[in-house]
Amino acid sequence: MTAANSQSAHACTAVVGLQWGDEGKGKIVDLLAPSYDAIVRYNGGANAGHSVVVGGERYALHLVPSGILYPGKQSIIGNGVVVDPEVLIRELDGLASRGVDVSGMVISDRAHVVMPYHKAEDELREKLLSQAGNVSTAGEAGEPAQASRAIGTTKRGIGPCYADKAHRATAVRVEDLLRPDVLKRRLRHICALKNAYLQAMGGEKTYTPEELIAWAEPMGRRLAPSIGDTTYLLHDMLGAGKRVLFEGANAALLDVDHGTHPFVTSSSTTVLGIPSGTGVPGSRIGNVIGVVKAYSTRVGNGPMVTEQINAVGDRIRERGREYGTTTGRPRRVGWLDLVAVRYSAMLNGVSSLAVMLLDVLSGLDELRVCTSYKLGGGTITGRFPPDADILSVAEPVYETLPGFPDEITTVRVREQLPAQARRYLDLIERFVGVPISHVSVGPDRAQTIIGQ
Ligand code: GDP
Ligand code: IMO
Ligand code: MG
Repeated sequence: MTAANSQSAHACTAVVGLQWGDEGKGKIVDLLAPSYDAIVRYNGGANAGHSVVVGGERYALHLVPSGILYPGKQSIIGNGVVVDPEVLIRELDGLASRGVDVSGMVISDRAHVVMPYHKAEDELREKLLSQAGNVSTAGEAGEPAQASRAIGTTKRGIGPCYADKAHRATAVRVEDLLRPDVLKRRLRHICALKNAYLQAMGGEKTYTPEELIAWAEPMGRRLAPSIGDTTYLLHDMLGAGKRVLFEGANAALLDVDHGTHPFVTSSSTTVLGIPSGTGVPGSRIGNVIGVVKAYSTRVGNGPMVTEQINAVGDRIRERGREYGTTTGRPRRVGWLDLVAVRYSAMLNGVSSLAVMLLDVLSGLDELRVCTSYKLGGGTITGRFPPDADILSVAEPVYETLPGFPDEITTVRVREQLPAQARRYLDLIERFVGVPISHVSVGPDRAQTIIGQ
């Protein structure tokens, strides 16, 4: 490798979630941001909710990258993101009103726009899927009654918007917000198709090109100075020796290809989504930090092998304030699933782990960690099957470790953690085969143990 190559490989770092989201990616991105020139979102949309806490002030970010709190940084929304302009403008205004400098924001002209009908479609699909699940299929085919097939989406229009990206003719991109005449012509056939589809699903509202233009045009004007070609921008920055931090949204087990299908989101959530979602090739990414919650949480439906619907789960939910940043829904809670985490670390090629919310586990008598699955037929496996039907009958096989009674929120050096907590971390490192670079012991930026 030439010197130039090795430099460019180290110029990019990615921060990705290794479970079902809400691992604490926002906190880690905020912590790393001072060493980077640009912080870039490459996937997902306003389904993400990334919290950053600084000196007791909490910021919840949905579309704006979590590096925004540092002035002078470029905050980039790449082409792979689906942008709800209303949410974005509200978020930028909210940040500005709290004194945050948002002038470094750049939005890809090729990102797709979440339109009002996408949210209506998301809502209707979920309603129909849950109703379909309530109808017993037992009898004719001799099958048992089906559980709900609703995904449990955030209803932010994410799936329908990505579907239109794949459909092409019905897609709207951010660049279209800047040319209302072209958009208006296109919206004629888009509205015809969408209205037919929404009505067939029982939707009551229909859309006209005029009302959608009236919705889009002012937002296009408002965002115009921040819309540009982010692919060239990123390559120009890298060519000038600048450093780039990629902020994953959602998480590996929600990946549309590699997650617990069909209970997933609609984008490539791992580092594999960075090249297509930004135009920066994967060979540029020198460092990948996999963010892992010290236990498991999941919002929405789908299998979760280590789920605890009991007093332990309730205790962790309350201590960890496990309620969604985006929807406020209570998160499902379970023990740490290392089979799943090792799979996600493999997919992302992670260089190190950030273990988050370790403080939440203090006070439990014992800690359980899932190290293999017992599948239907009794097979024991350490491999993660990314399929909801297989996972729904998998049983966890646990290793049990002693808990730690002490509060650890003021610890800043790994050696000063209680021995039981160190043992827990050692097991994670050993099992996943990757060193831990960060241990988080509280939500605040300062409550972090950095280094091994
Ligand atoms: P993200 O989507 O991955 O950015 O994570 P979220 O922000 O949705 O959820 C993580 C939650 O945990 C937020 O409320 C954070 O403020 C909080 N948090 C992050 N790290 C820690 C930690 O080490 N301890 C505790 N108690 N809370 C944390
Ligand atoms: P961050 O970035 C947790 C989940 C939803 C649902 C499924 C599909 O904050 O970690 P969607 O609206 O994307 O079609 O929903 O994916 N989901 C998340 N869960 N954190 C997230 O993002 C999520 N993004 C999507 O709850 O189960
Ligand atoms: Mg979140």
